[in-house]
Amino acid sequence: MHPNVWHGLTWPATDFSRVPYGVFTDRAIFAEEQERIFRGPIWINVALEAELPNAGDFRTSYVGETPIVVTRADDGSVHAFVNRCAHRGTLLVRGQGGNTKDFTCVYHHWCYDTQGNLIGVPFRRGLRGKGGMPPSFDLADHGLETLRVAAYRGVVFVTFRDDTEPFEDYADTVSLAYLDRMFHKPIEIIGYMRQRIPANWKLYLENLKDANHAGLLHQVPTTFGLWRNTQAGGSSMDKKRRHEVHYGYLDTDTEEDAANGYEGFTPYNATLKLNDASIVDYTNEWNDNISSEFLSFFPSSVFQQFANTLATRQVRPRSAAEFELFWTVFGYTDDSPTLRLARLKQNNLAGPGGVVSMEDGEVGRLAQQGIKRERTSHSVIEIGGKGPIEDQTTVITEVAVRGFWKNYCELMGAPVARAPE
Ligand code: FES
Ligand SMILES: [Fe+2]
Repeated sequence: MHPNVWHGLTWPATDFSRVPYGVFTDRAIFAEEQERIFRGPIWINVALEAELPNAGDFRTSYVGETPIVVTRADDGSVHAFVNRCAHRGTLLVRGQGGNTKDFTCVYHHWCYDTQGNLIGVPFRRGLRGKGGMPPSFDLADHGLETLRVAAYRGVVFVTFRDDTEPFEDYADTVSLAYLDRMFHKPIEIIGYMRQRIPANWKLYLENLKDANHAGLLHQVPTTFGLWRNTQAGGSSMDKKRRHEVHYGYLDTDTEEDAANGYEGFTPYNATLKLNDASIVDYTNEWNDNISSEFLSFFPSSVFQQFANTLATRQVRPRSAAEFELFWTVFGYTDDSPTLRLARLKQNNLAGPGGVVSMEDGEVGRLAQQGIKRERTSHSVIEIGGKGPIEDQTTVITEVAVRGFWKNYCELMGAPVARAPE
C-alpha cells in the first residue's frame, strides 16, 4: 500500500463511532479500495442463476469498477471472467446480457468460448507467409482472466482471490439463513432497475445498515405502516460483524403508538391519504411473520424483502463521488397473478421511480454535498449505543454501521485510534 494514502486521516474511536469524512471523497482511498477490498478476500454478488437458465446465457456486471461477465457454459457450469480482451484490453462484452456461442472482440476479432478460453485469432498465420502471430503464440496462454465462482441457492458470488475463505464461511450463519429464507423456492426474474447516485458507495452501505433511518426518512412506509420505528424489529450480524440483516414486523404497533411515538415529527403524517391504497397492501407470505428484511452483505451486495418486493441490489462504484445501484427484481415461479401484481406495485413504491429509493439516493447526494471539502472532521454514530458491536432487538439503531467500518478498516489497513490503556 502507498504509505501516504491516509494523509493523516485516522479513525478517532476504537468502536468506529466516528468516521472521518475524507474516506468518502478521497480519490487515492477510492483507488486503494479497488485493490484491497474489491480485489481482496471478499465475495460479491454479480448475478442470479435464474438469469442464466440455458447454456450460452450471460450477464455483465462489476466487481468494484472492474467489468465482469458471468456465463453458463455448455456443461451447465457457471463461470466469471474479467470483461477485458486478452489482446489489448478492449471491453469484450457490451450490454447487459443475452445468449451466445462465443464472444468475439469488436477490435481485432479475437474469439473466446463461454468459459473464457481463447479459441480464435484471425489471420493467426498471416497471409502468403507474411504477418500473423509468431509460432510460439499459444492460444491456451491467452484466455480471459477468470474469477472464482460460488453459487449458493442460485445466487452467484465471485472473488478475485484464490485464498478467499469458502463462501459459506465468509457468509456465516446470519447471511446463509437469510438467503435460505429468500431463495427457499424457485424464483423468476421480473425486471431490472438502475439508479445513478451522486454519492460515495460507502454512504449507501451506511444507509443500508442503518435500520433507524427508514422510519424517519421514508414518510410513506412510516405513515402507512410498512415500516415504522414504533414496530418490533431488530438487527443481526455475523461473528465478524461484516454483514447485517435488519428486520421488522408490521402490525406490532397501533396507530396510537405511532401517533405518540412520532408526536411532533413529520414522518408519521396521519393526514396523508392515498388515492389507491393497494400500493401499501401487504400479503403475509412468510411463516415467521417478518414483513421486511434487508441483508447488506460485505462489501457491497444487498438482498431485499421489503413487504412483498424481492430484489438484489448491486452497488457499483464509479468514482469516489458516484455509484450505480443495479436492482434485479424477482418473484417466485408459483406467484399467483394477484401476488405478482402486488409485487409490481410495491416495487414502484420502493424503487427509484417511487419514493423510497429516490429518498435514499437523495440523502446520499446531500451527504456528499455536505462533506465535499471535509477530511478529518467526522460523523457521530452512536444510535443504539457505543462500545461493543452487538445484535439489536430494536430498529432504532445504527450499530451495524460500525461493524461495516471495523471490517473496512481491517482490509484497508486504516489507522484506527488505539484503545485507552
Ligand atoms: S483488443 Fe480485442 S481483439 Fe484486439
Ligand atoms: Fe432507506
